[in-house]
Amino acid sequence: MTAKKFYITTPIYYVNDKPHIGHAYTTVACDVMSRFKRLDGYDVWFLTGTDEHGQKIVQTAEKQGMAPQALTDAVSVNFRDMNALLNISNDQFIRTTDEAHKSAVQAIWKKMEEAGDIYLDKYAGWYSVRDEAYYGDDELITDASGKKMAPTGAPVEWVEEESYFFRLSKWQDRLLDFYERNPDFIQPVSRRNEVISFVKGGLRDLSVSRTTFDWGVKVPGNEKHVMYVWVDALTNYISALGYPDVSSKAFKTFWPADVHMVGKDILRFHAVYWPAFLMSAGVVTPKCVFAHGWWTVEGQKMSKSIGNTIAPKDLVDNYGLDQARYFLMREIAFGSDGDFSQAQALTRINADLANAFGNLCQRTLAQIAKNCEGKIPTPGAFTDDDKALLGKAGTKLLAEVREEFDKFAFHRALEKIWAVVSDANIYIDSQAPWALKKTDTARMGTVLYVLAEVIRNLGLIVQPFMPGSAGKILDQVSAATGERDFSFMGDKHALKPGTTLPAPAGVFPRILSEEEQKKRGMA
Ligand code: MSP
Repeated sequence: MTAKKFYITTPIYYVNDKPHIGHAYTTVACDVMSRFKRLDGYDVWFLTGTDEHGQKIVQTAEKQGMAPQALTDAVSVNFRDMNALLNISNDQFIRTTDEAHKSAVQAIWKKMEEAGDIYLDKYAGWYSVRDEAYYGDDELITDASGKKMAPTGAPVEWVEEESYFFRLSKWQDRLLDFYERNPDFIQPVSRRNEVISFVKGGLRDLSVSRTTFDWGVKVPGNEKHVMYVWVDALTNYISALGYPDVSSKAFKTFWPADVHMVGKDILRFHAVYWPAFLMSAGVVTPKCVFAHGWWTVEGQKMSKSIGNTIAPKDLVDNYGLDQARYFLMREIAFGSDGDFSQAQALTRINADLANAFGNLCQRTLAQIAKNCEGKIPTPGAFTDDDKALLGKAGTKLLAEVREEFDKFAFHRALEKIWAVVSDANIYIDSQAPWALKKTDTARMGTVLYVLAEVIRNLGLIVQPFMPGSAGKILDQVSAATGERDFSFMGDKHALKPGTTLPAPAGVFPRILSEEEQKKRGMA
């Protein structure tokens, strides 16, 4: 058994909508984290999937004149396609309409019932179908015309029906104690403070079943009721591992989750309801919930009515797959909100990938091809400059990047990597191997060796972000395919002089703006 395990989850996506950049963002972040951990020696389980029950899906299906099951079958595929398009390395794709999942949800319900946390009463209050959330009167806001709305701006309706309740109020103090004892449970810290003050403000019991529609998991013993979609959805994180069979290999190996990655809008469900459900059912709580920020598009909120939603395919078509993945992870501090702008995407991708990293590889490999018979040159004694650069690019860089991954600071991990890219470019300019060709070919060989070795290390460390492009870079320095995990960083596994390299080929083409394309008669 591997000692180091890592279980990571995306939210499961509602199937009322096509995938967009928001979904792509969470999924890519989880993919980058999963790949990093695998390369760093962990046994990883990466779960994603679709959330297919609830009133929102019923309404969408009605609008489209489809049965809910047919709608969910059709739309769920779009999310699988998104994963293929974005080169996502998930280990499992769960659907809440899976039979095994449904029985797991009934099992956790029974546990909560046995614990005395479920009772039947009547719900009279506000509900937002768009948010699939209940709101207290005091939480609502009014629009310009005086109409009541959810704090998210979603429409609300008054609901009165018989309903089961989960005794959330009973868990208030235990939750506060749990946050206190587990300071890393909610990240980033600003979000943790928000949740704590929400819980301190007082928790009402939660309505956990509905009777006005039947598209959901039936309440055991009272089939008139279907469960509140969030009880159903959150349970996916354990049903995926075989719950209620807590002695199954998957459950024993991977639960508790190391991180549930979520957007800030759904933090409350994950950081308040979910641990309360689990504690009630006697299941260990997850280690961390990380809430990331939201993207706006060209300064505006993304919405179907404005028509400014960006599909994952648009990103890949416009910038290239790895370029898009890079941009999503580099542009904004993970945890904060940010804006997607075409101009900024072009500038960043061209500057960081085509120019900085791409040129470094291209210049080094072209010179090796031309001036070293296409073979890794044999280095002479290393100077202080050589040693300094090699020292920065190897295990030291790995340690720095690992530290940032531990904090989910993907953007800072990339900053650290690009600091080395920049140092390597300064090095090539100051060492000027093209000039050494005429004066000192032995020294030229040393410089090009140092650069190839730095590129090998950079290729290794960028794999989680840009798996395809990193693979091509590693091919070009002929790093063996079995020698690409992070244990191969640093000088212990340095390139072997004399190895023949394939002909160099650019990995990050410069992307032309629409104007440039027009000028060249391409658009
Ligand atoms: N089905 C629930 C999750 C259940 S998990 C047990 C759900 N689904 S969702 O499809 O509406 O949203 C999924 C994720 O997409 C959320 O984490 C949300 O924050 C994220 N995003 C949606 N729009 C977004 C942006 N504009 N920017 C970044 N992320 C966004 O909620």
